[in-house]
Amino acid sequence: MKKPLNLALLGLVFVLTLDSCGGDGTKNSAATQSIESQPAAPAQGTVSNVLTLEGNDQMQYNKNELTALANKTITLTFKHTGTLDKNVMGHNFVLLKQGTDINAFAQKAIEAKATDYIPKSEIASIIAHTKLISGGESDTITFEIKDKGTYDFICSFPGHVAMMKGKLIVQ
Ligand code: CO
Repeated sequence: MKKPLNLALLGLVFVLTLDSCGGDGTKNSAATQSIESQPAAPAQGTVSNVLTLEGNDQMQYNKNELTALANKTITLTFKHTGTLDKNVMGHNFVLLKQGTDINAFAQKAIEAKATDYIPKSEIASIIAHTKLISGGESDTITFEIKDKGTYDFICSFPGHVAMMKGKLIVQ
């Protein structure tokens, strides 16, 4: 609990320092404020680009929508909260480029057991993905998205796409 607070305070001090440096005109600080207040509004609760997602033994993600900011490193921690092995209830997070047919992708993935259901032939459609994990495991990845928009994510374990899919909204 202490670390995030310290970071928040650091950020605040940083902003205040910036503010006092450029404090030679009311026009300047007004402009700074309006620029800063814009991204702050939609990002409420997820001010940083740190995302969490879980998968369980019931073949479900705990969220079907994630939100992040463009042009900023996104850190995603994906956790399998179940107990089953990845051979029977493996989960991953595979983020796909816009325009990818998720069912066609998932179909290709079925044949890619050797690469943990990440099909080499479809690698160009993948923006980022985690490892395939078993119950009790987690994996953290970082990536960045340049273009604002909506992106599909799925679990590419055979049969899971029907239930395990969602949208990443990049603002
Ligand atoms: Co799965």
